[in-house]
Amino acid sequence: MKNIAILTSGGDAPGMNTCVHSVFMEAAHHGVALHGVEDGFQGLIEDRIFLIEEEESLRNANRGGTYLGTARSKDFLNPEYRAQAIQNLKNRGIEALIVIGGDGSYMGALALCREFGFPVVGIPGTIDNDIAYTDYTIGFDTALNTIIEAADKILDTAQAHHRLFLVEVMGRNSGSLALNAGIACNADMVLIPEKQTGLEELVQYIPNRSVKKTGLIVVAEGDEQSERSTLVKAIELAHPALDVRYTVLGHIQRGGNPSYKDRFMAVRMGVKAVQDLIAGVSGQMISYKEGRLQWVDLNKILTPEASKERMDKLIHNALFSGEIL
Ligand code: F6P
Repeated sequence: MKNIAILTSGGDAPGMNTCVHSVFMEAAHHGVALHGVEDGFQGLIEDRIFLIEEEESLRNANRGGTYLGTARSKDFLNPEYRAQAIQNLKNRGIEALIVIGGDGSYMGALALCREFGFPVVGIPGTIDNDIAYTDYTIGFDTALNTIIEAADKILDTAQAHHRLFLVEVMGRNSGSLALNAGIACNADMVLIPEKQTGLEELVQYIPNRSVKKTGLIVVAEGDEQSERSTLVKAIELAHPALDVRYTVLGHIQRGGNPSYKDRFMAVRMGVKAVQDLIAGVSGQMISYKEGRLQWVDLNKILTPEASKERMDKLIHNALFSGEIL
């Protein structure tokens, strides 16, 4: 193997650049050139591919975002565009592809393996930590630290005004960010999409307070109750003594230089991806399970059973023994 390519796909995540650099260094160690694809699968279709140079790679290694650019490419759902993408790779003598992204990105990766027998491996990269059969995704730790820092700041003002704050965090359809951040921030309650709870039942969980008191509820954006005005009104109606505010943290959660943990995991995953790709692994994603890196079939990640695995893991990993709302 002399040439491989790498792309980042889906939402950017802190640590993606670190991972690209570790792939670059390990590939160079094996005498393999690394080509970067701009803007994920879209850049693959449009042949926006360049040879990665060490200096640029190192300069970006510990910055947030992804300097390769990323996109959620609808065009890649079209088989004709996929054929074009493969042709572009072949024209450049590229023999394998590494995809860093969330499970949406793996549909594209799998299609290239299945339809063209092209070697592709995945590396889990998303702040959401919502990929089945891996306990960790690159970017999760940095996003959690950002949430914790923001929630601490919100609690300063919450305490000053004796308010109850609802803080909405990202995570798409997963409550992983919310649950882990909620535990770390000593939240009174965490609302996650994995458990449906009616408004009436929910307000009963908030303790009746005759005097105004500080409180924090972490709400996952995917929770069915994340409709801010309805939720706030329902709480105020049931608990008139409470002064309630709702804050959406938004895209601040995706930015920032990667934490130690994200850098460390990104380097380990990048090195393994190159070593095993050269050894012939394909159609698999690196997974971090039971404290070690292993491979999991991309097909398995995209099956309906994968959702159950995600739910079990969420509860187990958060060491959560209480009621889930
Ligand atoms: O997957 C990462 C993520 O930040 C989710 O948590 C969120 O739902 C989504 O991306 C937001 O996407 P966009 O940046 O396109 O609004």
